[in-house]
Order: sequence, then structure tokens, then C-alpha cells
Amino acid sequence: EEAITKICCIGAGYVGATTSAVIAYKNPSVDVVVVDSCEAQIHAWNSGNFPIYEPGLKDILSVVARSGSSGGDVRGEKKARKASTSSIGNLVFSSNIEHAVQNAQLIFVCVDTPTKTRGTGSGFATDLRSVEASVNRIMDLSTTSKIIVEKSTVPCGTAAGLRELLARSNGKGVKHEILSNPEFLAEGSAIRDLLHPDRVIIGCEDTIAGKQATARLASLYKAWVPENCIISLNLWSSELAKLAANALLAQRISSINSLSAICEAVGADIHEVGRVCGLDRRIGPEMLRPSIGFGGSCFEKDIRSLVYLAEGLGLRSVAAYWMSVLDLNEYQKHRQTSRIVDFLHPAACDRVAILGFSFKKDTGDIRGTPALALVRDFADRGFQINIYDPRAKIGSIQEMLDRELPLSSRHKPTAIFSSASEACDQVHAIVIATAWDQFRTNSKETTLDWTSIACHMQEPKVLFDCCNVVKAGYLEGLGMKVVELGRRRALL
Ligand code: NAD
Ligand code: UDX
Repeated sequence: EEAITKICCIGAGYVGATTSAVIAYKNPSVDVVVVDSCEAQIHAWNSGNFPIYEPGLKDILSVVARSGSSGGDVRGEKKARKASTSSIGNLVFSSNIEHAVQNAQLIFVCVDTPTKTRGTGSGFATDLRSVEASVNRIMDLSTTSKIIVEKSTVPCGTAAGLRELLARSNGKGVKHEILSNPEFLAEGSAIRDLLHPDRVIIGCEDTIAGKQATARLASLYKAWVPENCIISLNLWSSELAKLAANALLAQRISSINSLSAICEAVGADIHEVGRVCGLDRRIGPEMLRPSIGFGGSCFEKDIRSLVYLAEGLGLRSVAAYWMSVLDLNEYQKHRQTSRIVDFLHPAACDRVAILGFSFKKDTGDIRGTPALALVRDFADRGFQINIYDPRAKIGSIQEMLDRELPLSSRHKPTAIFSSASEACDQVHAIVIATAWDQFRTNSKETTLDWTSIACHMQEPKVLFDCCNVVKAGYLEGLGMKVVELGRRRALL
């Protein structure tokens, strides 16, 4: 079988852009064209004013993106050049979907698959319209056979359904093959995750053509991923493994968060409990960080998809089990605001700053951010809220607040600031909602002037650290009171 030299990626979002960049970087002889139905998205990638922030992405794009669309900063460019010695220029962001699809041998489908908001399964089932539109477009445009790679996260059975759809093109002298190749990258560490994946999984139909297509896709990954990490499996397993992995990761967070409530009540320390549990090799240390709840665009939607699947199969107890992971997550978000309000109300305090609005550090993405629950709860209780985030765009935060929190529901103003010191000025309390290194009291990355912040706060000057990023003793030395998630502390 001839090697793949021409790839198209449909969807220039978080997954499409980062995955394409790394595949292009590691396969200099392969041409990659990333397309998107949203012209503004393509324009943003080509303008150098990238639509997403992801550490290390600029460096890689400065090597692979054809000139004019690099946008790399000088320092980053130098670093990346050193690694690759010269610019490759084998990746393009383009609005010409027709040409990219027709020209490609292999097409990644990396479009969004949100939870349905209407119709059957609303609130649980996956909205597959973007995937179906992409596949229909491929069928309409293609005059040669393609390998279509389902990279978007989809419910089990999607590939089987698409295969039937694709079979309709077979009469036109083409035979498309469909593979499932879900993506496991996490935002904020996407480039590192893509460069060093724990595993790459490729699901295929159990036919000779399916195996051949798998081998051709695998050869792209073999450029940098050890062969024993590339796992071939059946389509259903591959699709379910993606949902299962996210559900298991989220379940660990709900587990540790449930224990954080016990810690606060009895005087145990969740960080000590988590650390010693994680030292058991069978448990392991990752994804046991307590938080105000997990957020992002994946965990909740993928668990909802799993719950819907289980319900549809009549597996009530299974559905209820996974639903409880989401229930605990909601509980944790509201539990923290109640705890904070309980501290503040007796002192008649009503001005609070929220530091960190992205759903996790090192990303500007606010989709599914747990910080929104804090804002909503504080607004309900009549607080004036100031928000600051180092990366999330002020416009996107504003748009989310306007959509989710109508002005009529806000008794006091909610404002977004471009610096932490402005957001914290004259507030009674600060809540750290995202674990940005900038907020740490003992990190080189710290950009906050805690002395000045403490000086410009109003009594009782409380800091609620929901992310374990401050040294309580240090801030107490500056006259602040510190309350930490998962630790009991007498105060006020
Ligand atoms: P995204 O919303 O950032 O990007 C999707 C892009 O697809 C958008 O730019 C949109 O305009 C484009 N698009 C939609 N329909 C299209 C069409 N018919 N033709 C051309 N372009 C179209 O989404 P994302 O975060 O990159 O996620 C994509 C998929 O990957 C989802 O299924 C998600 O569950 C999965 N995933 C995401 C992550 C993550 O961390 N974000 C990780 C693993 C898997
Ligand atoms: C997740 C999966 O990790 C990734 O494999 C999958 O491909 C997409 O979904 P992502 O949502 O980008 O990635 O980030 P992740 O690091 O998993 O964090 C998700 C949420 O969980 C964040 O809100 C984060 O703050 C929270 N979290 C994470 C915790 O509360 N505690 C932890 O220990 C880890």
C-alpha cells in the first residue's frame, strides 16, 4: 500500500490544530491541510493571533506552518529551529475545504461533538451533526477512496453507522474506509501529550481493507511513537475506550473531592490523604488533586454520553453509577461557595475577587469552567464580583456571563479585569479558582504582588485557596486570613 503523503484535517479547534501540527512536525514529507467551516478560525490561525493558547504550540507551528501562518515569537522560533534545524512548511490552514478533501488520501475528522440540547436524548446524547456534515461533505466531494479517521469523541457505534452511510458512495467507484482514532490529549499539556502519548489507539473493521488502512495510519504515528504503544482494536472498543478513560479520570476527581468534604469536617488534610493514597502503585498519584470540581469541554459531556448509552441498554445501575460522578461534581462546586459564604456573611462582606476563570491552568479555554458556578452562587447571594484570569479572553468571559447569568439575576455588578491587582482592589475576599502558577506564593512564575494586594483589601481580608497554590503562613504574615479547600482552619 502506498504511504500517506497528503492529509486533510477537518476542524481547526483544540484537537485538530494541535494534532495536525505535531503530525506535520514529525512527518516532514507529509502535507497537512487543516480546514474549518468557520472562516474566522482559519483567518485567526493565519494571522498569527492564534485562536487558542497552548504551551509549545507556537514553537511547533513556527516550524511546520507555511510562512505567513507561523506567528511564532522569536525566542520560540529559535528553540524550535534548533530542534528541527530548518523550517518545514508542510502545514497549511485553509478555507478551501473542497480542494483539501479532494486532494487528501487520509482525512481526520476533528469537529465538535457537544451534548444535544434538544430532541431525543437532550442533555445526555451526543450531537453528531458536525461529524455527519463532515462525512457527507467528504462523500460529496471525493472522487478517490479515502481513509476517514474519526478523531472526535463519539458514542459507540458511530463508526459502524458512518460505514453504512459511506457504503452509498461505493457505487461511484470509490471505497472509503473508516477508522476510530480517539485523542487523549489534555489542554494545557496538549503538545507534551501528543509528543509522548501513553498510547495511540486505532479501531478498525475486521477486514483486510480495515487492517491495511490501520497500517497506513499507524505508519504516520510510528514516526515518533514506539510501536508497542500503537494499539489496534475493534471499532466499538476504540470508541468506548475513549469514553471509559475520561469517565475513570473524572471519577477519581469526584472521589478525592468527596473526601475533601470529610477532611474539612474532621481536620484531616486532603493533600496528605491524597498523597499517601497515590503512593500505592495500584492507585497512582495522577488526577487526585482536589478542586472546586472538574470542568472543561470533555469530562461532563463524555460521562453524559456514557450514561445515555447505559440507559439505552437498560443498564440502570450502571447509568446511575456514572451519573453519581457528575452529581458529586455539582455538589463540590456549590459546597465550596456555601463554605465561603458561611465565612463571609456574618461579617457582612459582599465584595469578592475570583482569580482564575479558565477551567484549568495553562489554557484560556473557559468551556465548562467550574468558576462559573462560583460566580452564579455569589451573584445569587448578592455579592459584587471581580474576575481576573491570565489567559481567558475578557470578551469570552463576558459573553459567557451574559449568556449564563442574565443581568436581571445580578444584584451587584460583575466586572472582569485585566490585572489581578485591579480585581482585588477593595474586596473583602479573594477566591483562587484556577491553579495558575502566577498565583503561587512560592513560584518563579509568580506575578502577583501579594503585599500590595493584602494592603488594598478590605477587612477581613480572606483568601480562599481552592487550588492549593498559596503558603498560608506567608499570606497570614501580610495580614490576610487563609481558608483552604480540603483543610480545616479556624478563623474569623
Ligand atoms: P473545537 O470546538 O475547539 O473545534 C472544532 C472545530 O470544528 C471548530 O473550529 C468548528 O468550526 C469546526 N467544525 C465543526 N463542524 C464542521 C464542519 N462540518 N466542517 C468543518 N469544520 C467544522 O473542538 P475540540 O475541543 O477541538 O474537540 C473536537 C473533538 O475532539 C470533540 O469530539 C472532543 O470531544 C474531542 N476531544 C477534545 C479534547 C480537548 O481537550 N479539547 C481532547 C480529546 C478529544
Ligand atoms: C481531559 C482528559 O484528561 C484528556 O485525556 C481527554 O483527552 C480530554 O479530557 P482536559 O479536560 O483538557 O482533558 O483536562 P484535565 O487535565 O483532564 O482536567 C479536566 C478538569 O479536571 C479540570 O477542570 C481540572 O482542573 C480538573 N482536575 C484535574 C482536578 O480537579 N483534579 C485533578 O487531579 C486533575
